[in-house]
Amino acid sequence: MISWAAPGRINLIGEHTDYNLGFALPIALPERTIARFAPADTDVLTVHSDHLDGAVDIRLDTRPGDVEGWAAYVAGVVWALRAAGHPVTGGTLRLTSTVLIGAGLSSSAALECATLGALTASGPELDRITSARIAQRAENEYVGAPTGLLDQLSSLFGEPRRALLIDFRDVTVEPVPFDPEAAGVTLLVINSHAVHEHAGGEYAARRTSCERAARDLGVASLREVCADDSLDPVRDPVDARRARHIVTENARVHDFVAAVRASDFAAAGRLMTESHASMRDDFEITTPHLDAIAASAVAAGAFGARMTGGGFGGCVIVLVPTDRAGSVTDAVEVAMRDGGYRAPTVTATHAAAGAGRVRTA
Ligand code: GLA
Repeated sequence: MISWAAPGRINLIGEHTDYNLGFALPIALPERTIARFAPADTDVLTVHSDHLDGAVDIRLDTRPGDVEGWAAYVAGVVWALRAAGHPVTGGTLRLTSTVLIGAGLSSSAALECATLGALTASGPELDRITSARIAQRAENEYVGAPTGLLDQLSSLFGEPRRALLIDFRDVTVEPVPFDPEAAGVTLLVINSHAVHEHAGGEYAARRTSCERAARDLGVASLREVCADDSLDPVRDPVDARRARHIVTENARVHDFVAAVRASDFAAAGRLMTESHASMRDDFEITTPHLDAIAASAVAAGAFGARMTGGGFGGCVIVLVPTDRAGSVTDAVEVAMRDGGYRAPTVTATHAAAGAGRVRTA
């Protein structure tokens, strides 16, 4: 029996920059998915999940379209591994998870990376960049979601008390010390419980907009555009706003890293709030519900707040002086009640380890 764990993530800053070959700064979360694999001499992988009854049989020669629903992420990994020339053995895969599903915390990447780790543990070691690309291919081409590399790299490279500065053009990951607790600052995750609808189509539309803007600007990707370059050549005004988010967001990632390195969490918080405004006004991926959470946290004395993840639902993250965490939580709860929204779940969190083998006693 092989057990492999892979965490969910939150992105501290740098949203929708991954497929624009820019920068992001995620952390891995303490919550994780565990895949327990018992190999057997068969051409079928039988998958069980603690969230769902029954089992799903995946043939090792599975092709995109064969399997749907949550098991498609597992089938996608089987397919992408084999397509990359890595042998996969059949058997039984049991999945358990503490990563919330549909909350924008990358439960899908946790599932892909735990599966990939468990299925390849007995073979030659796969480096983490290769693993991330295989898991991304599973998601892009088997599941059909045109996502970037952010979630998989976060899950695979996570480290305790470190954030990960990712450069998506060079595909490098640089750990950056991130330990707000040691400075008397708390990182809160506020789950709105709003699960996004039509988010898939909106995500793809943002991606297309960014690609069009890059073409109008004559660059290979929006990564090549500097903060003071003119966006006038972008013909469509909506595309221009999308591009402005990406360009300013890339700059904010670097400013945030500098602030965190200087233990200036007040400045880091301000950048988070600016990032939220950019996602709200230029990229248009927030919702009035998420805006209300972020605004009420900041009004109650947080250093800053922003939605994290793909958008249209999910979670808001907040940096707050620890002695104000209680009053900020209360204020957000009151704002949600007054606004007629569902009660949020507020949790303090921290940067945790990335994917790896689970040693069983
Ligand atoms: C989702 C995608 C990522 C990334 C984020 C936005 O989580 O899976 O690749 O694009 O949205 O930053």
